[in-house]
Amino acid sequence: PQTAIIVVAAGSGTRLGAGAPKAFVGIDAHSVLRHALDGVFAAAPAQVVVVARPGFEGDAETELREAAGDRRELGRVVTGGATRQQSVAAGLAALWGDVETVLVHDAARALTPPTQIDAVAAAVTPEVGVIPALPVVDTLKKVAEQTVVAAVDRSELAAAQTPQGFPRPLLEAAYAEALASGIEYTDDAALFAASGHPVRRIPGSERAFKITTPDDLERARHLLAPERP
Ligand code: C5P
Repeated sequence: PQTAIIVVAAGSGTRLGAGAPKAFVGIDAHSVLRHALDGVFAAAPAQVVVVARPGFEGDAETELREAAGDRRELGRVVTGGATRQQSVAAGLAALWGDVETVLVHDAARALTPPTQIDAVAAAVTPEVGVIPALPVVDTLKKVAEQTVVAAVDRSELAAAQTPQGFPRPLLEAAYAEALASGIEYTDDAALFAASGHPVRRIPGSERAFKITTPDDLERARHLLAPERP
């Protein structure tokens, strides 16, 4: 089946504090978005929609052109919205042709292995959505202000990553429902599940972490640095 990947890159990067939108912050010689797109194109998608911050569409085009090489016709840049959910909706509206599976991926997960992208796409069925997720390693507490209210059994929990994959017709219907209800969901899997559809979990990977803080950027730089003798 034809697979499209929507790469949402319209966030502000406030928590990174790098003085530029996060997608265009350099990890090494290449930006967060460029690394994300290199991974995406290594996974051989049928189409790629990059959702850019208003005013940064041209910069996103440049990154897309460089990552796509001679497959430039597979990619398209659209303008994102004020929330991630609005940005994904803009990406969905820009799909073309007979795509059956839609993957939604955070540009901020710039070092996601292409094998993870392929594994998510392969696990999607016409009825079932798929997320990659890692076991939770920290001990979690439920808190109210400064008081610990309850312990949480972490064996029942998993930390969701992207790409998250869905059958296109059900995802489009779920987005229409979310728009009508006015509810903002934390991720696409929550929005999809709210429409009554099952979501399966497959293993995530450490390298698919989201670059959010300056420490995360350091970690990404470290992972890309050439081995020293
Ligand atoms: O802010 P956070 O890192 O959780 O955002 C996750 C992803 O969603 C990022 O890749 C970011 O660029 C994207 N995003 C977006 N439009 C927004 C907010 C976030 O495309 N309005």
